[in-house]
Amino acid sequence: MPRASCLNYEEVTANFTWSIAEKELHYKPGEPINIGWMCSDRICQMGNERKLALIWENFQGEHRQYTFDDLRLLSNTIAQFVCDLGIKPRERVCLFMDRIPELYIGFLGILKTGAVAQPLFSAFGDESLLVRLKDAGTAAIFTQKKHVHKIRKIRDQLPDLRHIIVVDAGDSPLQEREIAFHMDEARRVEDFVVFPTFAESPSVLHYTSGTTGQPKGAQHVHYSIISQYLTSKWVLDLQPNDIYWCNADPGWVTGTSYGIIGPWSNGATQVVLDSGFNAESWYHFIEKQRVTVWYSAPTAIRLLMKEGKEIVRRHDLSSLRHLASVGEPLNPEAVIWSQEAYGRPFHDTFWQTETGCIVITNLPGMPIKAGSMGKPFPGITATVLDLTTFEPINQTGIAGLIALRPGWPSQIRGYWNNEAGFNAKFKNGWYLCGDRASIDADGYYWFMGRDDDVINTGGHLVGPFEIESALLEHPAVHESAAVAKPDPVNMEVVKAFVTLKPGYTPSDELELEIMNRIRKKLSPLAMPQEIEFVDSLPKTRSGKIVRRVLRCKEFHEPVGDLSTIMDD
Ligand code: PRX
Repeated sequence: MPRASCLNYEEVTANFTWSIAEKELHYKPGEPINIGWMCSDRICQMGNERKLALIWENFQGEHRQYTFDDLRLLSNTIAQFVCDLGIKPRERVCLFMDRIPELYIGFLGILKTGAVAQPLFSAFGDESLLVRLKDAGTAAIFTQKKHVHKIRKIRDQLPDLRHIIVVDAGDSPLQEREIAFHMDEARRVEDFVVFPTFAESPSVLHYTSGTTGQPKGAQHVHYSIISQYLTSKWVLDLQPNDIYWCNADPGWVTGTSYGIIGPWSNGATQVVLDSGFNAESWYHFIEKQRVTVWYSAPTAIRLLMKEGKEIVRRHDLSSLRHLASVGEPLNPEAVIWSQEAYGRPFHDTFWQTETGCIVITNLPGMPIKAGSMGKPFPGITATVLDLTTFEPINQTGIAGLIALRPGWPSQIRGYWNNEAGFNAKFKNGWYLCGDRASIDADGYYWFMGRDDDVINTGGHLVGPFEIESALLEHPAVHESAAVAKPDPVNMEVVKAFVTLKPGYTPSDELELEIMNRIRKKLSPLAMPQEIEFVDSLPKTRSGKIVRRVLRCKEFHEPVGDLSTIMDD
């Protein structure tokens, strides 16, 4: 196959089959396939033992690096440790850590045992953690000293959680069910018999938010690597000598599909910077590491735009060859700005936790229409459906629901313990993404917004139900609704509307107290940036709160006709 930038979209789409990736990965249908092995041992067998797989830095300037042979040995070591604890294939093992090497390598180690890796964002508070660990019946959790207190708070409510593994315990005292494991100091295991997982064996469980109910566990399988490998190669244009940087945290799907599986199945060297946003240190990192391929997100790009072009000129960013973005609409200004500032445009990529891989995108060789997400990846059959009939809209420029024909390798196989929720995502044989778009005469997709009440803040989905449940736990709160409010940097932030119980009066102190409570219990992302105390909330005749009314007010959009559903 030629390089991604030389691919002819029409030609490659017409002749596409996923067996292209199967062949390149030497996978034969029916044989065992294991992501942990594919991303480490297989790369070594190709003669890359000494090639750097991971170069890691944190904000304090600490530095560690690992070759592909280190990945192989250390993931073996972790796998052996997990097996010795008595964890069985298909049991869920959570990774609850900052972006430290143990997180990336632990992910491979867990998969090598046949257990399911369940990454969770380390900024989650105890309530967010509890909901997800309980639902998954998680058997073990890898964490750091700094986060273990959150698990201690909830462990009595988690009878299935047998082991709490602390990767940097040092001399600190451990409590019930806790055990220390130091990856870099452990005796390296040369030979580990990788559990023979197959295409449909469960691999990763990512929790994602919907409008209704608590977050849903999106169930991925080992065969997902087929799409993650090929999309990394064709969309991110990964090549053998690339230095790849993905900004995303593996607590979210971008950080696993394209922050672990995609680059390492391609044998690419990746760099990780475990630090929050800072333009100076980001540019310095790109310059120092000679990053060639950068996968980022619109919120980060907007923050970089705010810092201006002068700071760009003070760094040598000439190593950058290909830029891509995901998670939110990539505004045309950002594409144009990056072309001016870096000499390269950001390429938009659209996908979801449920799709497991990029499904609509601008391939490197395609002309970019700034503001459009691009076209379906070859092998993905996409369309937009009429909002009421769920039939494909065969007209250009009309908004409809983004829908995909099921059956690509990395599509999730279900939601954990929630068959009804999964079935509800399909209509007339199409998988519904829950987003709206239109298609133009050239087949380019233009994103128009979500089709539900989920809030997308800085590229992270936050479910209103989870926030409302946490709000209701506050003694002063009678009823609540969480909706999106526009934000110049994060696109959306959370705003909560609250009615108070008798005896409580609105005040700035109360607002602050409620906000802080949500930040601690859920996460900084879920924390409402504003709480409006109201006398009542808009409701349907049957008493359901209509968030849409509140959301439209925030966005200054017309609400439409609600006469049939609303209270008078
Ligand atoms: O609403 C879309 C938005 O993010 C949602 C998926 O979020 P999540 O499952 O957390 O996965 C995020 C990373 C893959 C989508 O349903 N989204 C994602 N990419 C884009 C986007 N919205 C507009 N443009 C995009 N490129």
